[in-house]
Parts: sequence; C-alpha cells; structure tokens
Amino acid sequence: MCGIVGAVAKRNVVPILVQGLLRLEYRGYDSAGLVVVSDHKLHRVRSTGRVAELAEKSAHTTGNIGIAHTRWATHGVPSERNAHPHMSCDLIAVVHNGIIENYEELRTQLTAQGYIFGSDTDTEVIAHLIHSYYTNGHDLLGSTQAALAKLVGAYAIGVVAADNPQKLIGARKGSPLLLGVGEGEHFIASDMSALLQVTQKVVYLEEGDVVELALADYRIFDAKGVEVKRPVNISELNNESVELGEYQHYMQKEIHEQPQALANTLESVCNSQSLIPGIFGAEAADAFDQIDSILILACGTSHHAGMVARYWLEELAAIPCVVEIASEYRYRTSVANPRTLVVTISQSGETADTLAALNHAKAIGHLHTLAVCNVPESAIIRQSKLRLLTRAGPEIGVASTKAFTTQLAALFLLTLVLAKQRGKLDMQQEQQHLHDLRHLPSAVMAVLKLEPEIAKLAKQFADKHHALFLGRGLHYPIALEGALKLKEISYIHAEAYPAGELKHGPLALVDKDMPVVAVAPNDTLLEKLKSNLQEVRARGGELFVFADAETRIHSSEGVHVMQMPEHAGFLSPILHTIPLQLLAYYVALQKGTDVDKPRNLAKSVTVE
Ligand code: G6P
Repeated sequence: MCGIVGAVAKRNVVPILVQGLLRLEYRGYDSAGLVVVSDHKLHRVRSTGRVAELAEKSAHTTGNIGIAHTRWATHGVPSERNAHPHMSCDLIAVVHNGIIENYEELRTQLTAQGYIFGSDTDTEVIAHLIHSYYTNGHDLLGSTQAALAKLVGAYAIGVVAADNPQKLIGARKGSPLLLGVGEGEHFIASDMSALLQVTQKVVYLEEGDVVELALADYRIFDAKGVEVKRPVNISELNNESVELGEYQHYMQKEIHEQPQALANTLESVCNSQSLIPGIFGAEAADAFDQIDSILILACGTSHHAGMVARYWLEELAAIPCVVEIASEYRYRTSVANPRTLVVTISQSGETADTLAALNHAKAIGHLHTLAVCNVPESAIIRQSKLRLLTRAGPEIGVASTKAFTTQLAALFLLTLVLAKQRGKLDMQQEQQHLHDLRHLPSAVMAVLKLEPEIAKLAKQFADKHHALFLGRGLHYPIALEGALKLKEISYIHAEAYPAGELKHGPLALVDKDMPVVAVAPNDTLLEKLKSNLQEVRARGGELFVFADAETRIHSSEGVHVMQMPEHAGFLSPILHTIPLQLLAYYVALQKGTDVDKPRNLAKSVTVE
C-alpha cells in the first residue's frame, strides 16, 4: 500500500505533489509527507492524518524537485516520526511503498556503522544505505542501485539528495511505479491518476527498473543495470474520470457508474454475434481445450465474485470449480492438477496475497493462468497467460463497488465461453445470454432508482450494532458482499449466512435489535428462503427484504420489502448487489463515517 509521487520541474512542485497524493489517498491515509530540495537543503513537511492536513502545513514550502508519500502503516504506528519521507543525515530523502523483509539485519549493520534511526519503519534503512554509498563516492543513481542490491522484499521508491537539485531517482520491484513524461518536466507516481493533472504520457516501469529523472530527460536501467528504452504510452484515463463531479463521495459516484462500467466491460462481446475464447487472449482456445477444472484465487470483494462464478461455472459449463482465499492457498500444501485453469480475480492487480498465490500455483505445477483484473499494466495481468480486463475505470472509494459487478460480468463471460467450448450451450441459449448481457446496463440503471427509498430505510440501521445478511445459492455470496460493505464503511458488525444455515446457530442471535437483510430473488430457492424468513419473524427479528417482482413477499409489521425488478436469471446476483451497496452507503452517511476512506483499511493491499 502507500502512494508515492515525485516531480522535477521548473515550477514549484509542491502543489503537484499534494494534488498527486490526494489522488493516491485510496492507497493509505494514516499520515503523509513530502520533501523538496532547495538552497541545497532538504525541506521536509510531515503530518499524521490526511493529505489535506499536509497541504495546509506545506502551503509555504516551495521547490523544483521533490518526493511525497501517503502512508498505510506496516512497520511502526501512524505518527509524524514514522511518516515518510525518511532522511539520512539531512542529505538523502526516500519515500517507499512496499516492505523490506531484511530490514532488521540491515538496521543492525547500519547502527553498527553509526547511523541513528529516527523511526520504527523498514524504509529508513534504505535512506541510510543510500547515504552510505553516496558519501563513499557513488553518484545518486549508483548509490541507489547499490542500496537496492542489498534489499530483500518489495519496493517502489523515490529518492532525492540535498546537494543534487537536478536529479530524482525512482525504482520499483514488486510494488507499482510509473514515469510521467511532461514538457521539460518529469514525474514518478504509484499510479497514473496522480499524474493526470500534469501529463497523459506514461512509461510503465518493469520489475527491477531504476529511473533517473532530470528536467530535460530521463534514463531507465533494468534490473541488471543496463540502460534500456521503454515505450511511452498515452494514458486512456482523463482527469474527469478521477474527479468527484456532482457526487458527495467516490463510492456513490462509483455505484452510479456501474451501468457504464458494465457496458464498457461487455462492449466487445455485446457488439458481436457470438462468443469466442479469443477475448481472453490468443492462446485461450487451446488452453480451454486442455482444462478439466477451475481454481479461483482472490481476496476480499474479488473473492466474493469468485464464489458467484463457481455456481455459474458448475451449472452452466459443468466444470468443477474451487474458490479459495489467496492468503490461505499460498501457505497450504495443495495438489496441483496441470489440467486446472487458475483464475485470479483482482481489481488492482497488485494485491500481494493474490499475486503470491498465483506464483505459488505456477511454482507447484499449474500451467494455465487467467487474470480478471481492472488495471491493464498490473503485475497480476503481466504474470498471467490469459486475461480479461474489466473496464470499470479507476475505482477510488476503498469499498469496492463497480469493480465487483464488472468482475461478475467478466466471469459470466468466462462461464459462457467455457460452456460453449464444452458443448453445453446451443446457439439459441448463446443468443439469449448475449441478449441478457446487452440489457444488463439498463437493468442496473432501473435498480439504481431505488436509491431514495433505500436512503430512507438506512435510517433504521443507524443505531444498530449488528446485522445479519441472508441469501441462498447464487445469492449467498451477494449476502456476504452486502455484509462486507456494511461493516467496512459503517462499522456495524455484519455477518452473512446461507439462509439454510440460520437454524444451525445464528438464529440464536435474532431479536428486535438484530436487523436481518434478505436477498430474495424469484428463483427455485424462493420458497425455501421464505420459510427461513418466517423463522426470523417468529423470533421477533426485523426483516429487510430485497425481493424480485412476483415473489409475493409483502411489507407488514416488522417486514420491510424493497421491490426489485423482474428476476434476471443468471445475472440476478449483479442486480441484487446494487441495493446492498446503496444500503451500506446510506447507513454510513447516517453514521457520519468517512465513507471513501474507512478507518484502518486501504484499497490496494500490497502487503501480506
Ligand atoms: C482490499 C480492498 C477490497 C478488495 C481487496 C482485494 O481489501 O479494500 O475492496 O476487495 O483488497 O483487492 P483486489 O484489488 O485484489 O481486488
């Protein structure tokens, strides 16, 4: 996690650094800091809390070269002394995203050399290491390269030196960093959203790259230290896509962007007459012929998307599927089946556990890998043979919304392509599914119209401490996702159960203070679900039911029914997600929490 920005320009870079950090706050927001070089001195400003505080504190700081950081604490509590940039002897300053695994050993060595540590972070060793080479005759680039050779772990860094106002060094291994190319000015950042304010031109640095930025030019060196050229791309993002616009929060904006995000994700398919494996990459048809099972690996919300996909894959494509939390899979002994397709799902494409699980799967003998991901240049995309990009656009709210529904759309496409290839889908069924997918964005738009009603309903949750979410079958993972959304942003303890499990324990918790939210699609399990709801009502539990048309579930004493449109068949989980997102959002508003940046969390979890 953590976000970094760096700039070298003829103008004052402080506003650029601060604006960049504001864009990267989703990566961590417990403290922030920046340093600029001017008059052959390092001028550092740090603050605990949000970037807005840093902006105030640095309002009178100026400089033409600098680096900045927004932090999600890993080593050392959030505090000013642990905030980046970290400095060595007022000469070297470093910002870092990632974790240095051998920092204790390095800290001992550096302490023995006389370095005094001013923080509890792993990052400070990098500053002192670079300093030790710099004061031994290496230039800034050489010192950084020599220091990096000593590090074990993951990093993206920015480095400046007090006596070198012309050069800024960036480097990455395991954590993201890109280079922004301007007119007579250059930048580094953890992601492009931080740089749209100054340029659209971007160079995606490769693993192990070190870059030296100056006003007029830049030089890139690969992991072996050989100077290399990397292509300059024009970013497809624009500043508007990361602006809040008419909305109060990014989460609300992103909930409303779902029709468009789904339309974008489905564009290539919906415009064609049939489904082809090629949408997953040129080698997909061959790979899909060779597989006999699926293993899905993911974390958080992406894991819930995988759980929905399992129902689809087994029912429609008749292919056995296992879904596992990436952080569990990577550390257990498992048996690799070379005929399994390993599917990783990740919004960011850089979640450390998912990436490690993918590499673990490959290491133990899995041959076929496919990534469903929202970030084209991400590590997970680059390390997978096959891929389908969700085209949700930048997701900034920490609670994932449009990334989830677009992941579902992508996984449904995977299901259909595999079903077709395995002879489980005739032409008429294929056309029907394509028709339903084309209709999906407008169906989501219709569900969004429930917003005012849900906003009212949310008032009844504001004073509650617990909530139970129920779903069955395909909609059980949706109940899980609804509970996750509520707990993440409103801090109400929420649990989800498959409704049939109620009587095996959670029913004991039900009373008038425990609202029970039920996902009630008009599917084959409806009558079973209705019985489960009776069990809740009989114990005095208050029900909040999101019911499809024609389910014949009506509002009554203690039963609040939100009317959903007609049942959407296999795509129903996507529609039923929307009101649960809105419910969490409006409950959080009632409670006055920081919706887009809930406490203790971060969006991109690049640590274990
Ligand atoms: C964090 C985010 C979640 C996300 C999870 C996995 O916990 O807060 O919203 O679902 O990471 O992230 P990924 O980028 O791999 O989907």
